Amino acid sequence: MEEVNNLHATTPAEAEQLRIRFLSKKGEIAALMNDFRSVPAELKREVGQRVNELKNLATERINQLKAEAAVAETTTSHIDLTRTAYPIQIGTRHPLTIVKNEIVDIFSRLGFTLAEGPEVEDDWHVYSSMNFADDHPARDMQDTFFVEAHPDIILRSHTSSVQARVMERQQPPIRVICPGRVYRNEAISARAHCFFHQVEGLYVDEKVSFKDLKQVLLLFAQEMFGSETKIRLRPSYFPFTEPSAEMDVSCTICGGKGCSMCKGEGWLEILGCGMVDPAVLEANGIDSTRYSGYAFGMGIERIANLKYQVKDLRMFSENDVRFLREFTAAN
Ligand code: DAH
Repeated sequence: MEEVNNLHATTPAEAEQLRIRFLSKKGEIAALMNDFRSVPAELKREVGQRVNELKNLATERINQLKAEAAVAETTTSHIDLTRTAYPIQIGTRHPLTIVKNEIVDIFSRLGFTLAEGPEVEDDWHVYSSMNFADDHPARDMQDTFFVEAHPDIILRSHTSSVQARVMERQQPPIRVICPGRVYRNEAISARAHCFFHQVEGLYVDEKVSFKDLKQVLLLFAQEMFGSETKIRLRPSYFPFTEPSAEMDVSCTICGGKGCSMCKGEGWLEILGCGMVDPAVLEANGIDSTRYSGYAFGMGIERIANLKYQVKDLRMFSENDVRFLREFTAAN
């Protein structure tokens, strides 16, 4: 019986040979069973048991040899361990993620913390609390996506809604940076899309002034586009800031001399900003006689375009890996 364990096979074919030799209908164990008739009656019981036991042991051992041989065959003869490995494609960060991280990083170093709000918002946070009049054109269907069935529920059209989300739950000092996706009902083209990304900044404390705003934005521009970068603020209008301004940076290509990128102007517009309108502070539960603040908002696609000269906005959402792989080295 122990000799069953001495059976060996190195290939599945050899294991099959053993099965035929011992376990098939004409095999050695079947032959023993055929001889059973000639066993004297008093030994039949013991011999029967022994032959059965032998059959079971042999079956088990041969099945085991078959399984081992099959594994050995696939791991040794079919796999060439000397072949070079398949190249592993390492993923890349999306260019908008790279730029967003860079913006958030710069403001984190200036003491801003991250805040986020929902993309599906209500009218209050997107418009009313931000001092938009009831008949302000931005509320129009042409700009805003409404969630059907709920005329009050919309897809946020700017990240300024996160300002309201933060102020309603926190008293000053507030210093937050809020990146996120926004939606506008626009026809998709190289220059416009129905969704894009913004970063909002908000700083509210005692004695915050326009001078503070200008200094922080200059630092940001120089960190983002290089230490030679200059900024220029032009008066503008937003419902939620007073005074309001738009900021330009000196052209990232020609440095201000004028080229095709800046259309000969030497300047590129990159963000909107201003002092938070006291009406906005009050609407969000902050005492405007004690506190003042500044806010700014910029488009991430716009900054990415200036950094990487992406000509067509649609590239950012098509997920063409040939485009995405261009940013492998960037971060
Ligand atoms: N919410 C504005 C927009 O979507 C951008 C903006 C301008 C944000 C001025 C601000 C700001 O916080 O102060 O066009």
